[in-house]
Amino acid sequence: MKQKFEVAIIGGGIIGCSIAYYLAKEKMNVALFEGNQIGSKSTSAAAGMLGAHSECDEDFDVFFPFARSSQYAYSQLKEELHHLSGLDIGYRKGGILKLAYNEKDINELRSTLSQHTVKWLDKEAVWEMEPDVSSEVAGAAYIEEDVNVVPTAVCEAFAKSAQILGASLFEFYPVLDIQKQDNSYLIQTATSQVEAKHVVVASGVWSTTFFKQLGLDHQLTPVKGECLSVIDEKATLKKTIFHDHCYIVPRNNGRLVIGATMIENDWNERVSLSGIDSIIAKAKTMLPTVADMKMDSFWAGLRPQTFDQKPFIGHHPEEEGILFATGHYRNGILLAPATGQMITDLILKRQIKSEWVEAFKIDRHQPLLVSR
Ligand code: FAD
Ligand code: GLY
Repeated sequence: MKQKFEVAIIGGGIIGCSIAYYLAKEKMNVALFEGNQIGSKSTSAAAGMLGAHSECDEDFDVFFPFARSSQYAYSQLKEELHHLSGLDIGYRKGGILKLAYNEKDINELRSTLSQHTVKWLDKEAVWEMEPDVSSEVAGAAYIEEDVNVVPTAVCEAFAKSAQILGASLFEFYPVLDIQKQDNSYLIQTATSQVEAKHVVVASGVWSTTFFKQLGLDHQLTPVKGECLSVIDEKATLKKTIFHDHCYIVPRNNGRLVIGATMIENDWNERVSLSGIDSIIAKAKTMLPTVADMKMDSFWAGLRPQTFDQKPFIGHHPEEEGILFATGHYRNGILLAPATGQMITDLILKRQIKSEWVEAFKIDRHQPLLVSR
């Protein structure tokens, strides 16, 4: 017999698993199809910063409130998911120090510093907080609320909690095709066919295939990021330090995650020696003591980038039953709860802030390049 679901989600990264969780909480009959192991792609590469302030350089009107709502959601989720799944998401307080070495850096921090949740610290105050930070710093923006989590733990906790609430999870089930059939859709995998009233494409950087299949000309570009982790035996670093897209994130297990490169259009998920070299060099300029720490691990992943670096979250422009939740670029961990909630609200036809619907809709326009 063919299985029927109210919602089929394609992709079991943090975005798909968050959607499964929020829908299952509403007692929706949900199935999630993941082509590999749940959480094993971009999600497993992330550092886990919930950088609502630190990753938001200019869009304080729309992106920032959306990101903040997601950041707030985590403070409740850590208990909610633990209660359901028994899993610890590695929520770690402490916040981020965005380092400034010179006038140019200080100027770049001005918009971040305009938020009342961000404090300027002069260099003495930075060293008091983090004595091992480079003697070259001029100061830092301190953002206490940009905490961090362990991405794979969050993804697993979402998936397990969704399953406990009744969602069906299918791992190693790549979806090959989506076909319309009367008022529903047929989802084709290599070995099965299921029917669903709604389909949510949450396949990260691989979502381009489904945009094409569903008649849309949208392209996601991979931006490869390489990271490594080291063992901070003395557990000296308490807060994340960040400068120019590079960061050192302390985890609760005594590891420091150091990242990350930004390599556009590279689909190869292996780490390169030059990539690791470059982030070690950068890390040493922020925290010279890393030079003596012992290597733990290294990895790479592909950030799913859209043309304006904002996610696509919304309905297919012509097919009400198809939704997309993809393209979260540098902020998929941060934005997972707000995305799961927004997709659930769209499916349940609840009111959503119109500026979020507009900003993330699928048929927003790509600005035309004007040649001079
Ligand atoms: P993915 O995790 O890639 O999940 C998509 C899933 O879809 C995959 O598991 C894939 O196997 C599956 N799939 C694809 N095609 C199919 C198919 N046909 N059928 C079934 N399944 C399919 N974000 C933050 O917020 N904070 C950070 O600190 C942070 N650090 C990062 C550091 C690095 C180095 C990188 C690379 C990214 C970082 N990010 C961070 C970004 C974050 O990792 C991504 O935005 C997020 O993981 C995207 O989640 P996703 O679920 O959309 O994608
Ligand atoms: N948000 C951190 C990264 O994408 O590297």
